[in-house]
Amino acid sequence: MRSLAIWSLHLVLFLFTNIVIGQIGFNSPPDVQTWCGKPYMSTNQSLNPGGQFQFPAAQKDPLLHVTIQPRYTIYVDGDAEAEFIVGGAISHTLGGPYINTTSDKNGTITPFDTLKFTVVNEEDGEIPVIDSISVNTTGKLFKFPLSSWTPRPAPYPIKLYGSSPDGKQTYTISTSIYFLPHRTKGSAVKIDNLHGGLYVQNKFNSHSGWYALFPVGYYADGNHVTPTVFNTTNIDIYSSQGFNTISIVPDGGSPDQSYPIDSLSKYWDHVDILNLFNIYQLRFAFQNTTRLATQVALWKDRETLLSWYTADEPDGWSYPLNSTSLAYATLRELDPYHPVSLVLNCQNYHYTSYASGADIVMQDAYPVGINATYSIPFSTPCNTTYGDCGCDNCIGSLSDVSTRLEVLHHYQAYLPPSSPGVGNKPTWSVLQAFGEQSYWPRLPTSEEVVNMMMLSINHGAKGLSYWLYPSTVETNVQTGALGRVLSSEPALGFLLGTEPVRGLSVEGVMLDVSAWVLGEKVLVGVVNGVYVDVRAPAKISMPEGVSVSGVDQVLCGDEGWNIEDGKLVKSGFKGLEVSLLVLQRNTP
Ligand SMILES: *[C@@H]1O[C@H](CO)[C@@H](O)[C@H](O)[C@H]1NC(C)=O
Ligand SMILES: *[C@@H]1O[C@H](CO)[C@@H](O)[C@H](O)[C@H]1NC(C)=O
Ligand SMILES: *[C@@H]1O[C@H](CO)[C@@H](O)[C@H](O)[C@H]1NC(C)=O
Ligand SMILES: *[C@@H]1O[C@H](CO)[C@@H](O)[C@H](O)[C@H]1NC(C)=O
Ligand SMILES: *[C@@H]1O[C@H](CO)[C@@H](O)[C@H](O)[C@H]1NC(C)=O
Ligand SMILES: *[C@@H]1O[C@H](CO)[C@@H](O)[C@H](O)[C@H]1NC(C)=O
Ligand SMILES: *[C@@H]1O[C@H](CO)[C@@H](O)[C@H](O)[C@H]1NC(C)=O
Ligand SMILES: *[C@@H]1O[C@H](CO)[C@@H](O)[C@H](O)[C@H]1NC(C)=O
Ligand SMILES: *[C@@H]1O[C@H](CO)[C@@H](O)[C@H](O)[C@H]1NC(C)=O
Repeated sequence: MRSLAIWSLHLVLFLFTNIVIGQIGFNSPPDVQTWCGKPYMSTNQSLNPGGQFQFPAAQKDPLLHVTIQPRYTIYVDGDAEAEFIVGGAISHTLGGPYINTTSDKNGTITPFDTLKFTVVNEEDGEIPVIDSISVNTTGKLFKFPLSSWTPRPAPYPIKLYGSSPDGKQTYTISTSIYFLPHRTKGSAVKIDNLHGGLYVQNKFNSHSGWYALFPVGYYADGNHVTPTVFNTTNIDIYSSQGFNTISIVPDGGSPDQSYPIDSLSKYWDHVDILNLFNIYQLRFAFQNTTRLATQVALWKDRETLLSWYTADEPDGWSYPLNSTSLAYATLRELDPYHPVSLVLNCQNYHYTSYASGADIVMQDAYPVGINATYSIPFSTPCNTTYGDCGCDNCIGSLSDVSTRLEVLHHYQAYLPPSSPGVGNKPTWSVLQAFGEQSYWPRLPTSEEVVNMMMLSINHGAKGLSYWLYPSTVETNVQTGALGRVLSSEPALGFLLGTEPVRGLSVEGVMLDVSAWVLGEKVLVGVVNGVYVDVRAPAKISMPEGVSVSGVDQVLCGDEGWNIEDGKLVKSGFKGLEVSLLVLQRNTP
């Protein structure tokens, strides 16, 4: 996030010390400043930034992509059982050779339609699961008791040995599973590797069991929420506006660009009372093991630590490609109880390397008010090899946010989900709630920010953040109000309990619509992306096989929805209107 403060901080350091700070792309000469690897000064020429995502080559023959992950990134003592998620997708890009034949006991050739497998704890040889799945199914869950397992800080190495029924085709995949000692002080936070949601254990639930959290909260100006003479006024206002998370930004005021520890301790005592979770920024510490260890030791036992946040736009700055994964490895050693997150700003620049250092990947495409083709501060064209327009490879539409989420999901689908920290990572959005600076000549309206919130959840975001608090009063209030809806029942259960079915077909009006189908109810998110009012009626078809009988609850937006002939119908949409509603499903 190139806030004015931090942006100018870098410029100041650059001018006064003549040390270039991490802005030289891997493909560019040393005197060429880049963002996302692209030269952005008018005095320099365009060049191929490199680092584009490498999709594996498609094979003609089918492959069997066998996968295993623990259901949750961590288990802690007190959890009675654990689960593995096993998959065996037919793929043409990932997996091992697959021939659709096997022989039965009598030697008769039959289709290879069942994968048999054994899951082994490689350390003690125990076998938690022996079972099978149908070929070309994914996301199958297998439970096992933890009673015989010893809790410890290090993960247990796990292998899945899979084979065709005749044993002639074999597949071996590794993962690991954490079974950690129980905590009586400080939070533990796990990610659901199946649906991407977060679950917390802390003082709030007496360190017993887990509760779901859909994170909604801003990056916040440190001076505003933790003034040096600590004062609870602003943080209380923030919490009461409906936010459940916060990520305070070190202001660069102290020499090592960290927080004044005394006021931060008081701040943290107070947010522990509010149960307001911190996404704690190590942006100036994560590349220095000493500073990392100091910061982690200070805050790892806090009740409201949600996650560590390492790199802030490492791809924009072209930080060393191994910087995020090295910090990740150190953090896992220092504190296995909290996930690691970071934000990526580039659309297609060394995604695999940078994302390998995080459990949660945030995107921060900021499209509002930009000129997507001509750099306002640097007076150059912007394209895939040149220029910085403030939103990498964007078109300058609110939909840049949902497009970016889908692009990251697409990359992620080609990375193996074989071990914690690799593959299938939850993505979150960081939304633009600022403007009137450099690339962004105007502030977004609250309607635009709310629209981007809905686009994000419609496209699978499992958490929402914003740059920067305080925004306008209107935006603070409106994002808090929708945030409160998303982070409480009934929306919470849908968002964390299943994946949205995207792109429902709509007659009459161009809308972005997703549905979360769970049990007897369907949550539907509707986004009108155009700025003008439209009068036409819209008819939204439900996902295949889903039949609905009525509107159960309108969680947000206009009340005028009906079910007609099995379709969700409404007439007329205000510019940028959004809706979130729960439908009653006809169950067979
Ligand atoms: C790039 O632009 C900078 C700043 O104007 C200039 O000092 C440098 O010589 C240029 N480098 C190249 C390779 O054009
Ligand atoms: C194998 O052959 C025996 C005897 O013909 C038959 O009873 C049995 O059903 C066969 N088993 C399978 C799996 O086809
Ligand atoms: C395997 O062959 C059977 C019989 O032809 C067919 O029904 C099944 O779809 C095939 N499976 C795969 C994964 O190709
Ligand atoms: C495997 O499943 C996918 C997704 O459900 C489906 O599109 C594909 O046709 C299936 N492949 C085979 C060979 O059955
Ligand atoms: C605390 O901060 C608020 C908001 O900035 C201010 O109005 C109030 O006077 C401060 N209180 C104290 C005791 O300094
Ligand atoms: C790492 O941080 C420590 C503590 O702030 C500092 O003394 C040291 O110089 C830093 N190391 C590097 C390589 O910057
Ligand atoms: C990380 O990458 C840098 C080059 O960018 C290299 O100098 C360093 O040795 C690497 N560190 C490790 C531990 O691999
Ligand atoms: C972007 O800037 C160019 C060059 O000044 C201008 O021609 C174009 O109209 C601008 N586009 C937008 C969307 O502002
Ligand atoms: C990007 O713009 C620069 C400057 O106009 C031009 O030289 C370059 O060819 C363009 N790159 C692409 C991929 O169009």
